[in-house]
Amino acid sequence: DWTMGAYREEMIAKIREQVGDNHVICGLSGGVDSSVTAILLHEAIGEQLTCVFVDHGLLRLNEAEQVVKMFRDNYNIKLIHADESDLFLGELEGVSDPETKRKIIGKLFIDVFQKYANEIKDAKFLAQGTLYPDVIESVSFSGGPSVTIKSHHNVGGLPEKMGLKLVEPLRALFKDEVRALGHELGLPASFIGRHPFPGPGLAIRCPGEITREKLAILQKADAVYIDQIRKHGLYDEIWQAFAAILPMRTVGVMGDGRTYDFALALRAVTSVDGMTADYYPFSHDFLGETSTRIINEVKGINRVFYDCTSKPPGTIELE
Ligand code: XMP
Repeated sequence: DWTMGAYREEMIAKIREQVGDNHVICGLSGGVDSSVTAILLHEAIGEQLTCVFVDHGLLRLNEAEQVVKMFRDNYNIKLIHADESDLFLGELEGVSDPETKRKIIGKLFIDVFQKYANEIKDAKFLAQGTLYPDVIESVSFSGGPSVTIKSHHNVGGLPEKMGLKLVEPLRALFKDEVRALGHELGLPASFIGRHPFPGPGLAIRCPGEITREKLAILQKADAVYIDQIRKHGLYDEIWQAFAAILPMRTVGVMGDGRTYDFALALRAVTSVDGMTADYYPFSHDFLGETSTRIINEVKGINRVFYDCTSKPPGTIELE
């Protein structure tokens, strides 16, 4: 794409001019915006960039490994993998109130990011993937405060507190332009086209108490569900699809035995901006096949529901 090629060169020149020979910290979430920001900065200033990826233990199956691999191995970007899952899951133990969960995650996220950022000596700048829509209106999700670095910085003044200046190379872009730029920078199409994933991660797809056992079951079930959607060629028709593990066990039969396992909810919606959404009308065949696969392949699930609630009145996430 000629336009994006030119934009890329222009951005690189601007970043070099702004940053000089100073060091930059970039928070990576694994999402498209922060990834494109990091790659652009890396092209501009190479070794002067260090990325911090806060892993709260609430990511999808193998997601942390994939993010680390992509940035370290494929792009050769300096990356700190802050594996703080013990800290997050420890603080969340026994907590079932949705807002309390979000507050705990949001606060820890900032603390952890700050701790790792402080270890990067002589950093003068903080890079973030602010987009044009974030600039014109401070987006706040109906589900509660976001825990992305981005929105926290916007509301919390963290860069000032840390004595860092902001670098925001995507400030003039809309989401589709960021995707085009990501493509230009060599990000795989499968990565660019990924469904949105919320900052609090699987915490808000595990209503009630979060346990390692439930998280492990949820990760596996979600992976089977997404695999089904991809195999049926439906992924790009859907705005967001995911599984949620319900805070209940129900009775089932399997082979000669009785089971007493968790129930799973499958969610899939179409939407333009996430503000309103319609549930996706899967065929009964698809739902039946997916339910059978999940129950056969994922130990700990013996019942599968499909959530046919649109937004409003439902939210997209379960909490
Ligand atoms: P709801 O559940 O409010 O979600 O209908 C609307 C969209 O926002 C995402 N979402 C979040 N994203 N931090 C985020 O970064 C959050 O705390 C958060 N809560 C919801 C959700 O995945 C959907 O795309």
